[in-house]
Order: sequence, then structure tokens, then C-alpha cells
Amino acid sequence: MTPTTDLLPALAQKVGTPFWIYDAELLRKRIADIQYITSTPGVHARFAMKSCPATKVLKEMHAAGIGIDAVSGNEVLRALAAGYPGGQEPAQVCLTCDVFRDNALDVVLKHNVLPNIGSPGQIQDLAKAGYKGGISIRLNPGFGHGHVNACDTGGPSSKHGIWFEDFTKIAEQAKAAGFPIYMLHAHIGSGPQFDELVENLTRLAEEYAELVPQLPDLRAVSLGGGIPHNYRDPSAKVPLDRLKDLFANCHALLCKAAGREIRLEIEPGRYYVAPTCDLVARVTDIKETQNNEKGSGVKFAMVDAGFVDLVRPAMYGSFHRITVIPQDGADRPLEPIVVAGPLCESGDVFTRDDQELLQPRQLPSPQAGDLLVLHDAGAYGYAMSSNYNSIGKAPQLWLEKDGTVEMISRRETLEDLLKAECSEAV
Ligand SMILES: Cc1ncc(COP(=O)(O)O)c(C=O)c1O
Repeated sequence: MTPTTDLLPALAQKVGTPFWIYDAELLRKRIADIQYITSTPGVHARFAMKSCPATKVLKEMHAAGIGIDAVSGNEVLRALAAGYPGGQEPAQVCLTCDVFRDNALDVVLKHNVLPNIGSPGQIQDLAKAGYKGGISIRLNPGFGHGHVNACDTGGPSSKHGIWFEDFTKIAEQAKAAGFPIYMLHAHIGSGPQFDELVENLTRLAEEYAELVPQLPDLRAVSLGGGIPHNYRDPSAKVPLDRLKDLFANCHALLCKAAGREIRLEIEPGRYYVAPTCDLVARVTDIKETQNNEKGSGVKFAMVDAGFVDLVRPAMYGSFHRITVIPQDGADRPLEPIVVAGPLCESGDVFTRDDQELLQPRQLPSPQAGDLLVLHDAGAYGYAMSSNYNSIGKAPQLWLEKDGTVEMISRRETLEDLLKAECSEAV
């Protein structure tokens, strides 16, 4: 059941605005898509939980046999709390990070999760901490790119991974420290074009196939995440058959190069969750600026959600479809509207491009009291929300197939915001 224009006003009445609403059925459909493209024996899927770490989502992933790619000690602990086991036989939870921060090393040691290191010094960090076990190495293969430049994950300007030409040196260091290399990994981003993703993943598998014969302990190769989601066109489909064939071919290539079974892994985030959650806000006011020597005037729809809720438009100029649910149910003429939030930041605008320029959107003339829905906000949405301006995070609701709605996290209160404040001598 998808959230309808009848349901949303009723929910807004009950829980206030803004709020997030997940569509459980659509999430299961997206999980099924990933299960399909990884249905070749020897091909496995993880979920990059950074994109949406809600326990309810993690439980769905666990029930579907999807592994986890975590980024911090606390993400690992959230996965374990949702039912995932630690350990490396097999490594259902893997910790991919360039920096071990806070409890990350302790969590690796205590739960024996597979560390996927992205910086050379982490071998010493693990050795000093007394770690015993296998490691995964995340390489920067020197190519690939993200959906925007800021998300570039492969190439000289990317901070992620260990530069591929340093691999031999790192492999020697790992050997000297007594860490067998269990996995080779790279995440090269989705890129703006699907064909480019396919080309890049093929090239990655070919380059890894050259390294595989030198690695007797190797169990798996991960091609990372990056399966795209079309934020502009809800009817657009990713060619799943092509991906299934691609992963089957990459798996066969790696097994042939190794002369034995090598598991092929992928770890998408956004594809599973992007369309499965919307952010619902209330229009609080309409105001206008006028043309002058600095530029053209615009009409603003002021809403009660801001970049503390959904930061992607402000951070990357990301596009999210917007619909208006008029309070009176009337049909309204379209007009160009800039949608802006409550924060004390000029960039608190949902309709702008990656050059930080306003991009008024053709919307049915909004009025105060209408609901305004920001669609496809499930990936890097709530997960990236913050407490700037001390507003507190909005509640997350979960819509089940049978129409029942559950609140899975409540609206944060002032007490939540003050919880970590203290006065302790150091
Ligand atoms: C190592 C790694 N794996 C997986 C992902 C997930 O990418 P996406 O959500 O685009 O599939 C990311 C995203 O930043 C990543 O850095």
C-alpha cells in the first residue's frame, strides 16, 4: 500500500509535521530486485546501512538474507541489535571505514566482524589493538565516479580506499602483521549513466582478477554499491537482467582467475531504500520577492521541514520530486515555486541545483496549510538528518501492506537534545 493523499493528512493530524513515512511493501519489492540480481550461486548482497539504519529496515534485510556493510562501531552494534551475528564464517557484517573512530576497533575485536580497511595505517591500528583475523582491503582503483562530484569514490581526488598501486606494499604489511586478506573491495559510485556503471564494474572485476592469483586466502571480492535510482522519473527501471548477467560474469571471471570459488559481493544502499520513504511537510506561508538589479523575484512556499530533515538538496543540489496535497482538495494551477524551510540558513531550500542556484519548481499553487511531500527520501534522508537549530528529528512512520501504520521513531524532544550535555571534570 502506498501512502495516499487521504492517508497523509490524517497522519499529519495525528503526529504533526514534518514526518517520514516508509512503504514496507515497496521496500520488500526493492529487496526482491536485489535478491534477483544476486541469485547466481556465489553472488551475495549486502546492504550499505549508512543509507537508512532504522532497525525496522535492518530486520527486513536480515530476514531476506542480505548482509550488512557498516561504517562505524555503532552501525555494527545497530546491526547486531537487529539480529545479525558477528564473526567471519561467513562475515555477515563487515565494517568499511577509512578511520577507526570511537568504539570501532573495540567492536571489531569483540564481535570479530570483518574490517574492510581504506587507509594503510589501519593495519597498524589493528595490530596494536591485538586483532587476530582476516581483513578486507578497500582499494581506490583510480576510476569511477559518484552521482555528483562530491560523491566521487574512485580517482585521485577521492579520499576513499587505498590507492591501487600501493596494493603490493599493503599486502606485504598485512602478511607481516599476520592478517590474511579475505576480501578485496572497491566502491566506485553510480555515475550519471547506467552504461558507465556497467563498464566501470566490468573493468573493476577485470583488474581484481589480476590480483586474485596472488591471494591464497581470498574468499570474496566486493564491487561495492552504486546501483542508481532515478529520482526524476518514478517509472524508470534499472535493467535488472543486465546487472544479474554482469554479476554472474564477474563471478565466473574471478573464480576462473583464482582456480577456485571466490564469492562476489555487492553492497547497494540507495537502490533498496530511496523510493521507500517520503518526507511530509506542511506549507506554513507563501511569500514573494521582487525583481531588482540583483536578480529576479521568486515565490517561496515556506514549509516546516528543512535541511535538518533532508539535507541532500542543500548538500549536493539533489533533485527530489515534490507533490502538493491541497488542504481543500482543489485543483490548482501550476506556477514556479521555490520551496524553503525553517532554518536560519539561506541554503535551506529544497529546490536548487548543485551550483547552489535556485530552481523554482512548477507546482500546483501551494497555500498555507497544504501538505507538501518530498519523495524518494529513503536513502541518506533520515540517516543524514541533524539537530542544527535544536529542532529535533521528525518521527518515522512505517506503513504496512495491510494499511496499518506504526511509529518507529518518535519526534525528538528538548530532553533528547540535552541528553548528552554534562558537567564533568576532565
Ligand atoms: C563503501 C560503500 N559501499 C556502498 C555504498 C552505497 O552506495 P549507494 O547507496 O549509492 O548504493 C557507499 C556509498 O557511499 C560506500 O561508500
